[in-house]
Amino acid sequence: MEFQDVVRRRRMVRNYDETPVDPAVVDRALAHATRAPSAGFSHGWAFLVLDTPEDVRRWWRTTSDDVDHPDRWLAGMMRAPVVIVPCSSKAAYLERYAAPDKGWSDRDEARWPMPFWHMDAAMASLLILQTAVDEGLGACFFGIPPERNAAVRREFGIPQAFDPVGVLTLGHPAAQAGAAGSPTRRARRPVAEVVHRGRWGHPASPPA
Ligand SMILES: Cc1cc2nc3c(=O)[nH]c(=O)nc-3n(C[C@H](O)[C@H](O)[C@H](O)COP(=O)(O)O)c2cc1C
Repeated sequence: MEFQDVVRRRRMVRNYDETPVDPAVVDRALAHATRAPSAGFSHGWAFLVLDTPEDVRRWWRTTSDDVDHPDRWLAGMMRAPVVIVPCSSKAAYLERYAAPDKGWSDRDEARWPMPFWHMDAAMASLLILQTAVDEGLGACFFGIPPERNAAVRREFGIPQAFDPVGVLTLGHPAAQAGAAGSPTRRARRPVAEVVHRGRWGHPASPPA
């Protein structure tokens, strides 16, 4: 598929049919994820992959009380045969930037203007979303309920040095759309409204 088509066609899929996903496609999505850029080439990310019915069920049982009476969102999402949990490691970045070629040996967190560890895991996640489109599949990135974080860590053995940044479902889109996403309720902001050339001067911009 043309790259422009991948970008334009990508949207979050919230309803899947139960057709299994070719494991080679999952591997390709993960390989693409590791091609994402990362600050200092730290690649302080890791991916928990759940691709058996038992493991996927464990995911939903760990993150929801409603698996036996799911709403439309949950029913559609639970059918996805693959769940991927991208994680980021702040420690890996502090460690990497303390190396001689970077030299921040104080490991001072104040040096970091943005949490690059989360940003890099997000960039990797986008590559998974785009690979899904390229393969004719669907995917959705969504958040883990904060109150379930500890249970997720426990159930899947995620070490303290890693933080799940969210979670992705991956599968074959069902014929019927799933729960409606926000784009059904609000318009995409036009490029002209979000781009500020030379100076932040667009009348629609909020004051700085
Ligand atoms: C960081 C992040 C968190 C999101 N969390 C959720 C979520 O919890 N549930 C959900 O259904 N969609 C979630 N989404 C999907 C967004 O709603 C979706 O990307 C947005 O409405 C634009 O739609 P599109 O991706 O289909 O173009 C999330 C997306 C991002 C990037």
